[in-house]
Amino acid sequence: MTSLAERAAELRALLHRYGHEYYVLDAPSVPDAEYDRLFRELDALETAHPELRTADTPTQRVGGKTLPEFTQVRHDVPMLSIRTETDSGPGGAENFDAKVRRDLGLAADAPAIAYAAELKFDGLAISLRYEAGVLVRAATRGDGETGEDVTQNIRTIGQIPLRLAGVTAPVLEVRGEVYMRRDDFDTLNARQRERGEKTFVNPRNAAAGAVRQLDPRIAAQRPLSFFAYGLGQVEGWALPGSHSAMLDALVTMGIPVCADRAIAEGAAGLVAFHTAIAAKRDSLPFDIDGVVYKVDDRALQAQLGFVSREPRWAVAHKYPAQEMLTTVESIDVQVGRTGAITPVARLAPVFVGGVTVTNATLHNIDRIRQLDIRVGDTVIVRRAGDVIPEVVDVVLERRPVVAEAVDLLSPPREVPKYQPFEMPAACPVCGSHVAREEGEAAYRCTGGLVCSAQRKQALLHFASRRAMDIEGLGDKLVEQLVDVGLVRTPADFYKLGIVKLAELERMAEKSAANLLAGIDKSRSTTLARFIYALGIRNVGETTAKDLARHFGKLDALMDAATLDDQPASLAALQAVPDVGPVVAQSIRDFLQESHNREVVEQLRAAGVRWDEFEPSENLATGPLLGKTLVITGTLPNLSRDEAKVLIEAAGGKASGSVSKKTDYLVAGEEAGSKLAKAQELGVPILDEAGLLALLSPAATTET
Ligand code: IVH
Repeated sequence: MTSLAERAAELRALLHRYGHEYYVLDAPSVPDAEYDRLFRELDALETAHPELRTADTPTQRVGGKTLPEFTQVRHDVPMLSIRTETDSGPGGAENFDAKVRRDLGLAADAPAIAYAAELKFDGLAISLRYEAGVLVRAATRGDGETGEDVTQNIRTIGQIPLRLAGVTAPVLEVRGEVYMRRDDFDTLNARQRERGEKTFVNPRNAAAGAVRQLDPRIAAQRPLSFFAYGLGQVEGWALPGSHSAMLDALVTMGIPVCADRAIAEGAAGLVAFHTAIAAKRDSLPFDIDGVVYKVDDRALQAQLGFVSREPRWAVAHKYPAQEMLTTVESIDVQVGRTGAITPVARLAPVFVGGVTVTNATLHNIDRIRQLDIRVGDTVIVRRAGDVIPEVVDVVLERRPVVAEAVDLLSPPREVPKYQPFEMPAACPVCGSHVAREEGEAAYRCTGGLVCSAQRKQALLHFASRRAMDIEGLGDKLVEQLVDVGLVRTPADFYKLGIVKLAELERMAEKSAANLLAGIDKSRSTTLARFIYALGIRNVGETTAKDLARHFGKLDALMDAATLDDQPASLAALQAVPDVGPVVAQSIRDFLQESHNREVVEQLRAAGVRWDEFEPSENLATGPLLGKTLVITGTLPNLSRDEAKVLIEAAGGKASGSVSKKTDYLVAGEEAGSKLAKAQELGVPILDEAGLLALLSPAATTET
């Protein structure tokens, strides 16, 4: 029995360590499979001998029951809040420093005060109570005096240690913020949308909802994170002399503390911190609403004390809000690169996330219907990180109404002044018919190259590096060429002359000559590049290569795509590996358009040539023959392009999106939603080394 107990303790210690490496340090020292193996061993041991199950066992992170309601928790040391500086410019930092110096009675020439400067995380405050080093209770702040016991849900946060490293003090209450990372928030919302469930307005709401979720199994599916920023009740642990040293001590115990913190000397130090964080706010992986300054020295903190339940030694210095209310003046649609028609809200100008916003994307008609956004509505606009401003919610109570008579006897009733939004039937740019394909969220203009909004984009795509690779043909130039009428179709590039080109604004004779040389060079290309350059919807580089490999000649492809017998034509296209009904239909649609076929003929006439071959000449071989791989994240040594070349050289295909047909996902650092999707679909996941092993199977065949 003793040896079983010892083994259980050993397993718990290992799992705590590996868990910390994985969740907090982002540097696992063992593969996930090893963690899983130890976890299963401990779980089996505990099932056979329930008396071995301790409060801090990692097997119990998820496993609580649904609660009827939360138990109230009294905070022995109240959870206070802090004052906010109203001036969000440098003046805010200067005010605080001046006030602290005055409260301490310091002379003007006394040395600068050292402050602990931190981020103000936008989540919710949580107290974690450790007794003898073991997490025994987690509680929300509530009104500061009484909160709610949310231990079951907080246990599911992998970053929060169930046992502190090296501390067995009778009581150590750690306080901090539970939050949701932006990427986790996006993934969560995408999942909610897919399941037809309600989406969350922002990461803070999503985090708060998860923490206060009565069913811990649901809470466990909401990806939460945690940063500590202080302590509550402490017994039997000697507090370090400064706030920053206390946070350092928490780090050694395995508690996550944000690395973006600093000791700032005096007002100048605070201003510098505020400015530096403002500059990186957008690129942080989570939302912050400001920074927090705390007098670092504990003795000085004690001297300053509190005023009306707020410490005099701490202050919040905010940044411009990332969410604001404004009104919808109109709803327009924009035509994108592929003809996708996106509804856009024109807004009363509002300062949000540091910029004045007048437009916000509404994504698609489903999103509009879901939120029921109408002209005249008051809406919440969010701009966080580098993302385009979005309308995330409608304040329905503020919807404008008009009185409508019912009949002569009843009083008039109030009805919304504006009707629900409808997609236009015709493209606002070219007037072509607008269509929505089955299973697609977007509506599209069917005008193709007739539509000038799409034409410029199509021309740019044609000239791009991975397509015809025409050097020197950027977006400004394409814009000019189209606007002055020199270029209408890709074939027109090959008819340009030096005289006309040199007449363009900002175009010297020399650069005109260089451009013509670039155009000339692109005349000789590969069939795959040429097919890709045509910009057929749903035909990316990989599909273009497949088509080239399968058909060998452009005419063979055109013949297959334009057969009178539609089912036979689609079947011929679907004979190409990985071409399904949707892609086949796009290819047929494109090549059946006579104006698209004309462009191809004009290009041929202008001397554009590509390699052609008998399809059988090019049958691929290699260890990845017939396999589809997706690369995501940053690999340690290979660039994405290099990895792609290796995969293709081994007969495999590198695709852009994960599906059931994906054979492997190659994941590097910062792999996001594709990794989550692959895990969901059970697609095997490789790292760079795993990929290289697949490429040279000889080296790994030993067993
Ligand atoms: S210190 C006595 N530090 O902001 C000081 N609070 O009113 C207690 N917050 O809801 C708070 N980041 O949850 C502190 N680095 C940080 C913080 C922070 C976010 C939240 C906290 C509370 C509010 C303070």
